Amino acid sequence: MKTYRVAIIGTGAIVTSHIEALRHAGDRVEIVAAVDTDEAKLKAFCEQQQISQGFTNTTDMLSAVQPDLVHVLTPPFTHFDLCVQCLEAGAWVYCEKPLCASLDQFDRLSEAEVRTGRYINTVFQWRFGSAVKHLKRLLAANELGDPLVGVCNILWYRPLAYHQVAWRAKWATETGGATVGHGIHLTDLFLYLFGDWRDIRTIAKSLDRPIEVDTVAMSTLRFENGAMGTVNTSTVSPRQETYLRLDFQRATVECTALYRYTNENWRFSTVDGSPDEANLSRWQTIEQNTKGSHAEQLTEMLHSMDVNERPSVSGAESRRILEFNASLYKSAFTGEVVERGSINEDDPFYYSMNGAMESLPK
Ligand SMILES: NC(=O)c1ccc[n+]([C@@H]2O[C@H](COP(=O)([O-])OP(=O)(O)OC[C@H]3O[C@@H](n4cnc5c(N)ncnc54)[C@H](O)[C@@H]3O)[C@@H](O)[C@H]2O)c1
Repeated sequence: MKTYRVAIIGTGAIVTSHIEALRHAGDRVEIVAAVDTDEAKLKAFCEQQQISQGFTNTTDMLSAVQPDLVHVLTPPFTHFDLCVQCLEAGAWVYCEKPLCASLDQFDRLSEAEVRTGRYINTVFQWRFGSAVKHLKRLLAANELGDPLVGVCNILWYRPLAYHQVAWRAKWATETGGATVGHGIHLTDLFLYLFGDWRDIRTIAKSLDRPIEVDTVAMSTLRFENGAMGTVNTSTVSPRQETYLRLDFQRATVECTALYRYTNENWRFSTVDGSPDEANLSRWQTIEQNTKGSHAEQLTEMLHSMDVNERPSVSGAESRRILEFNASLYKSAFTGEVVERGSINEDDPFYYSMNGAMESLPK
């Protein structure tokens, strides 16, 4: 099997998860270079990880190294340009969330994929644990009945100091607030599991923090299949919890966790005394016990590269959460109910998450 030559762009906080994933991939990958605009940080990282080539800009790295795969781990506003550059240099890309700043950028990235024959995989590690794969199989077999009610709560806590890093808490550089920075993983999972959403109404504000972007966003949504749901994201909640509850006709499925889950975080229930009680132990029995991790997603990506196929979190599977977040913010700024598919090239929310508006309603 081919060993892929990998470069990393951005050696900040999240690089640890990517190093863990790359080490897990063993001899399927060789880390050939790292890039960071912060020279001291880059040097320390390369020394610690024994990476022989460090660069302070991506253009130099791409021409010197010509990697097969690039991990883009920089602040959100830089993702679009870096992804295009990497694709044009012939590399596949594994890019951190949020993939880019807008639907406009996403659609231009898709054109670059077509032009270059390479793909971008967005990091959504929550989709890759054994419990989610198991649940997807149950849903595909229609074992649990129709989806009815979904509750998606990302109630976290970030002190003011967290937002005071230069790129954070600004529309221009973080591209949004709690919604794009924190709620995005569980919300992506919710939409991945529950079917196409139809419309959304949202209230959001910078509650208790003097910053531009949302610290709280609360949305209600309807799904094409008739189900209803709520998505609540906060970064001002002292007792932190990540909670997903999916009510189907025959079972309730819940995940209670914080940043990662294993099988133990998932619970299946049914109506007391119903015939489905006989199914519970089967539903609750999950093969293997892998957490949703960067490593699991990377393993799948390397397989996609082997067979030269689109990785699973790309294309429409990657656009869904961007469109959802653009719609969520449009509803929060305008007070309108926003329908899926309604934000097009004539809409300011196609070009940025805040639709060029200055501040969220008080
Ligand atoms: N998947 C997850 O669970 C998860 C968790 C945390 C962060 N993230 C995402 O990872 C990305 C990075 O977040 P972080 O917390 O590691 O940020 P960070 O600020 O800790 O690190 C970013 C690094 O990128 C470098 N950088 C900035 N611009 C650059 C450029 N143009 N070229 C090369 N290097 C550049 C900075 O010097 C810094 O070292 C963000 O998109 C964030 O949303 C994902």
